[in-house]
Amino acid sequence: MIYPLILTLHLFAALIFIGTVFFEVLFLESIRKQLPARVMLLVEQGIGRRARTLMPWVLLVLFGAGLGMVWLRYLPALASPLSSSFGTLLALKIAVAVSVLLHFLGAMFLFKSGRMSPRYLHFIHGSLFCHMIVIVLLAKGMFYLTW
Ligand code: HEM
Repeated sequence: MIYPLILTLHLFAALIFIGTVFFEVLFLESIRKQLPARVMLLVEQGIGRRARTLMPWVLLVLFGAGLGMVWLRYLPALASPLSSSFGTLLALKIAVAVSVLLHFLGAMFLFKSGRMSPRYLHFIHGSLFCHMIVIVLLAKGMFYLTW
């Protein structure tokens, strides 16, 4: 019974994280052209503040639940990742997830040190957007692709 619970937590945390990244890229970037720069700055500061308080918890649940699922069910698959298509895709998914975490920590560092610029933010959003597409394809592909 514990496994489905952890999986549900993982799924909810994933949808909040993926939803936020998609919102920032698909909505915010296009709204930018319609609003005065000063208003946009205030909107981005508000969203940034909210993201910086909420996202660490979302990532904690996402990674905690992910590790929990691996511990409960997938340690054998990860022990020799190249010996099954599932193990390979799960290992890749975890590697992409670690890269997502590094992006997040990098962004937090840039914000805290006052070095975050619109150019960095644009790059981080775009890169995270690509990571999210790959991670969802891997998360589903590991159950449906076999070789
Ligand atoms: C940015 C980070 C992550 C995102 C966005 C993400 C997203 C997802 C999604 C969308 C699924 C499919 C769930 C479903 O359809 O039921 C999934 C499954 C899974 N994830 Fe993650 N994940 C992330 C990080 C991790 C990490 C760090 C681990 C392990 C250390 C992990 C382990 C798993 C496992 C084992 C499954 C398969 C669960 C199952 O159906 O049995 N994930 N993930």
